[in-house]
Amino acid sequence: METTLILLKPDTVQRWLIGQIISRFENKGLKIIWMKMMNLSEEIINEHYDFLADKPFFPKIKSYMTSAPVVAMAVSWTNVIKTVRILTWATNPAEALPGSIRWDFALTIDWNVIHASDSEETAQIELKRFFKEWEITNYTKISDETVG
Ligand code: CMP
Repeated sequence: METTLILLKPDTVQRWLIGQIISRFENKGLKIIWMKMMNLSEEIINEHYDFLADKPFFPKIKSYMTSAPVVAMAVSWTNVIKTVRILTWATNPAEALPGSIRWDFALTIDWNVIHASDSEETAQIELKRFFKEWEITNYTKISDETVG
């Protein structure tokens, strides 16, 4: 099983969308193994968006990501990284597919409601970044047996 990091961003929290977006993952049968609401420090934002530090929109990302808490989640399933990226779709909601989370909920590329790890390697780094006290919630879901 793979695990990925998902962040429900401040606009999701502000717009009462937390439940609707989590439902997308539950409806798909993915296994939530960790979830917490947290305020992001400048340090964690600098680390998480280091690859965008020289972009003109970086200050906007910082003020957006500190404008309200985020909900950080670790979600597991076979091929979960690809599955979640399909559910989420393009960074820019204008380029997302109808029915995807970003098409259905996101307003703009700046306020795009969700972050999801883009590869297994990134997921490992991001999970450790957001869950320093990394302890996967250990429970068996009845559907676990169906996953190879
Ligand atoms: P995310 O998937 O969290 O990764 C990088 C974030 O930068 C992206 O979502 C957007 O919220 C944000 N962003 C803002 N403007 C841009 C842009 N022009 N191109 C790419 N990402 C942008």
